[in-house]
Amino acid sequence: MSAPRLIAVVGATGAQGIPVVRDLVQSGSYRVRALTRDASSARFRELQSFGPVEPVVGTFASEADLRATFRGAWGAFVNIDGFNSGEKAEIFWTIRAYELAIEEGVKFFVLGNLDYIYKKSGYRPEFHAGHYDGKGRIGEWILQQNRDNQARMQAALLTTGPYMEMAISAHTPMAVSVEDGVAATWRLPLGHGAVPFVALDDCGYYVKWLFDHPSRANGLDLEVAIAHVSRAELARAFEQVTGHPARALDVGFDEYFGEVWSQEPERAAAYNADLSDPATMTVRENFSAFWTAFQHSGGNQGVIKRDYGLLDEIHPNRIKSAEEFFRREEEKGVKKGLGTLWERVQPEKIGHILKITEDNRTGRL
Ligand SMILES: NC(=O)c1ccc[n+]([C@@H]2O[C@H](COP(=O)([O-])OP(=O)(O)OC[C@H]3O[C@@H](n4cnc5c(N)ncnc54)[C@H](OP(=O)(O)O)[C@@H]3O)[C@@H](O)[C@H]2O)c1
Repeated sequence: MSAPRLIAVVGATGAQGIPVVRDLVQSGSYRVRALTRDASSARFRELQSFGPVEPVVGTFASEADLRATFRGAWGAFVNIDGFNSGEKAEIFWTIRAYELAIEEGVKFFVLGNLDYIYKKSGYRPEFHAGHYDGKGRIGEWILQQNRDNQARMQAALLTTGPYMEMAISAHTPMAVSVEDGVAATWRLPLGHGAVPFVALDDCGYYVKWLFDHPSRANGLDLEVAIAHVSRAELARAFEQVTGHPARALDVGFDEYFGEVWSQEPERAAAYNADLSDPATMTVRENFSAFWTAFQHSGGNQGVIKRDYGLLDEIHPNRIKSAEEFFRREEEKGVKKGLGTLWERVQPEKIGHILKITEDNRTGRL
């Protein structure tokens, strides 16, 4: 067997990065070098428990740190945290990450991407969400650059969407609350639309698949999701698995930003973006567009679309419905001693999924 290939990862300790690193190193085909601001964090130690993972301590907002991360690596998986940098700086640093990966001799580059919803909506301003478009624009740019650069480095996109784990975690835009100890309740400004939820475990599979199949993956925008999940389907699936009542109520933006979501709506949507910069979006501006895109994506027929036939072919055992997602979470939780899914969403037990929440971040790039 040949020596494991080195993959450089930006965002490795994040919700998305953890299953990606896990599936890469546990396969035995890859080892990982991860850029992190803190190699002593519990999440970095968790990565090392999976297999060979070496740290580069630094920031994606440094050319020297990006170079050190990419040097000698065969592949790179890059998910720049737009909730740190804001849209403007994310665009710059993602471009530099792509260019520096070429400089340092990386052979295959995968961008952790999101849909370019502003363009997909026909450039309607109410669909401009900085944390989506900051990635989606550069995703397109990378595929265009790739036509000229592929003799040196090939590239692919993994275009994801909201993690379904956020629907059973605290402090997320789609957090659940158990009201009166009786009904699991989501209050979402979703109307008759649908959320193209993604399962984090599937992200690990897809990224490994891209590195395993470079000739098919080269130039591919692999747009993934479990399914387009409506409010009714979210509640039905949860009830089916837990046996407890659930409801997903439609709310307007004023109620959502005023009473439902705990984020201050007028602060910057990213903790290092400057509100006095006219390019910076507020939480309310950014997440209004996020929900507007989902409102217009019902039935896989609107702004955000997925080719589920392709996903079934690439990942036959992928999670295919909200009910299957909740059933797997129920089984995983019981196996880990965390309790049933119903127990896990109770106010005293509910956990979080994002590192940004765990870190309670307000600081520097
Ligand atoms: N939430 C969702 O449903 C969702 C879905 C798809 C895509 N996304 C996108 O994913 C990105 C966030 O990643 P995540 O979801 O995995 O969030 P997360 O759990 O909060 O993790 C953030 C990751 O970014 C890293 N990071 C932050 N600032 C950094 C810096 N200056 N230098 C190096 N690494 C840095 C953190 O590493 P250290 O703390 O170890 O340095 C950590 O690995 C955002 O751009 C978001 O738009 C989110």
